[in-house]
Amino acid sequence: MVPRCRVGFSTVLLLVILQGAAMVLFCSWYVQIGPCDSRPPNSKVHVLLLSSWRSGSSFLGQVFSQHPSVFYLMEPAWHVWTKVQKPGARVLRMAVRDLLRSLFRCDLSVMDAYLPEDHNVSSLFMWSHSRALCSPPACPLTLRDQFSNQTQCAQRCDVRGLQKVQEACTTYSHVVLKEVRFFELESLYPLLQDPNLDLRIIHLVRDPRAVMRSREESAKAFERDNAVVLEQRSPRAAEVQFQVMQEICRSHVRINERAVLKPPPFLKGRYKMVRYEDIARNPLKEINSVYEFVGLKMSTLLEDWIYTVTHGKGKGSKKEAFQITSRNAADVSQAWRSTLPHSKVKRVQELCKGAMSLLGYRTVNSEKEQKRLDVDLLVPREPYQFSWIPAKSQQ
Ligand SMILES: *[C@@H]1O[C@H](CO)[C@@H](O)[C@H](O)[C@H]1NC(C)=O
Ligand SMILES: *[C@@H]1O[C@H](CO)[C@@H](O)[C@H](O)[C@H]1NC(C)=O
Repeated sequence: MVPRCRVGFSTVLLLVILQGAAMVLFCSWYVQIGPCDSRPPNSKVHVLLLSSWRSGSSFLGQVFSQHPSVFYLMEPAWHVWTKVQKPGARVLRMAVRDLLRSLFRCDLSVMDAYLPEDHNVSSLFMWSHSRALCSPPACPLTLRDQFSNQTQCAQRCDVRGLQKVQEACTTYSHVVLKEVRFFELESLYPLLQDPNLDLRIIHLVRDPRAVMRSREESAKAFERDNAVVLEQRSPRAAEVQFQVMQEICRSHVRINERAVLKPPPFLKGRYKMVRYEDIARNPLKEINSVYEFVGLKMSTLLEDWIYTVTHGKGKGSKKEAFQITSRNAADVSQAWRSTLPHSKVKRVQELCKGAMSLLGYRTVNSEKEQKRLDVDLLVPREPYQFSWIPAKSQQ
């Protein structure tokens, strides 16, 4: 007699369920270690807006800060640079790097070293510029898809401790930190290789002649930072601005060449250079490509806001060195041509020759050429190509 191999329907069902469960288990395990997508689900994008003083980074910072998906902090390294007595930029850079790493991971405890014992949210440098610190869960004032007002935020959102800041940070898909205190990329390599971070670097540069003019307008505000940039060397007062400018230009070359000419594999596709002048001429186009690079969506509300803040009146205010106001960005970007003496223009061009040619700024050969606004000094750049960002596991 042939043995009957009868398998009941319920047994089949059980087997199917067991197999399904095994598949699920196996897949989740596979996803965790496997090459399908090496980043854990729901992980954040970390953006470092890397720039220098007076280069439009407050504005670009606001473009991030006002986005409903962004947790933004402005210049956290300020705390490091001002806490330590008379240091040089070189000594401080690892401390700055480690500070950024902790902040990207929403660990605010790292600030303890730099803040007074009984600190509040308002102890953070320029805290009220961060929309996230004026919105729930940090503060009930501004809904997350609305635009924050610093003045009102400063009056109503300060609370004791940084618990609320930390809590807020964890609820956003993007953490954006703006820094003006980096002069090289190498110290950031461990962050780029950190499997817990998905770091993108936006390098914002501006015509050094315009930076020079803008720095001179608020020279007092930079004294302390100048000393750190110059490693506490103290040249004649008239020379300080030029020497700092030279350091800034050198750093642009160092950073851009490192990222573009021979990038290590973990840097590929993670660096984007942006020129202030391109943003001033074509704000929406440039900002769209910046958003695309970091994976943020544009909205009509944001488009309207960007239009308003880049098409206001006036040539920029002298008093408020760190304020962004509505002004005509395209005019502001050319203002140096009528106000900076040609002798200074020539000097800056000499000191920043390499940077200007690398970043696409034409030099002028005479005062006449400087003042003729129809002579375009901006070398057009290749249209930005979105490049595929390699998965962490393949680096
Ligand atoms: C923090 O706020 C409290 C009042 O809420 C105040 O007494 C304290 O001085 C503030 N601390 C700092 C460092 O501003
Ligand atoms: C922000 O709020 C202050 C005080 O309420 C107000 O005077 C100012 O006009 C507001 N700024 C903007 C840009 O709405």
